[in-house]
Amino acid sequence: MNPWAAFRSRFLDVLASIYIYNEHRGYTSLDRVLEAVRARCPDDPKFIAEVEKHRADEHKHYRMFRRYYELQGRMPLKVDRTCGHIDHFIQRVFRCTIDELDTQAIVADPKAFEQLCRVIMLTEQRGMRQVEILLTNPHIRSDKALKRIFEVVEKDEPDHYLPYERWLTRNGRVTARWRERWADYWIHKTLMLVKLPAVFLNRSTPRLASWPDEDAAAYA
Ligand SMILES: [Fe+2]
Ligand SMILES: [Fe+2]
Repeated sequence: MNPWAAFRSRFLDVLASIYIYNEHRGYTSLDRVLEAVRARCPDDPKFIAEVEKHRADEHKHYRMFRRYYELQGRMPLKVDRTCGHIDHFIQRVFRCTIDELDTQAIVADPKAFEQLCRVIMLTEQRGMRQVEILLTNPHIRSDKALKRIFEVVEKDEPDHYLPYERWLTRNGRVTARWRERWADYWIHKTLMLVKLPAVFLNRSTPRLASWPDEDAAAYA
């Protein structure tokens, strides 16, 4: 393979591996968010339905990336939570990992619930801008399957931040604090300028041995 083709193939592999991690993290974390939303807003069926749709979309995105790898006959690279935007964000705001997030405490504390809505809103807005940029990338545009996946993601993305933004506005809460926007910016920069190149260069990064939707310990 010539160096240019090798660069392109590694870049797409790393990118898709980081995406499948984030999609999986997304829909599994949204199960916890749904639990909190159902308990916190039982009289707001529209909001609950919107979060359910958000969860279903992220699951669909995960499946598209899984199919992408299945057709190539290989597994995604095994990245860890240092590659997860939402992982970093939750850690910064709540000082714990997603798995340690106490759903009951969030349900009981209006401020924490509000904060969780803001974190999801900012993460999804970031995701939307990111996919718009990726769709202008010539390497991605030249990979028909990946381009198609990102087009679907782009189309779904507005439905992922708007429900939380509307909920915050409807309830008279601030839609984002400058500290949170700053955190989101830094997390994104670190992922793009440090994490992605690090995985790209680390030839010893293993591949997943099992699919995370079938094996909860796949990323462990
Ligand atoms: Fe997604
Ligand atoms: Fe999304």
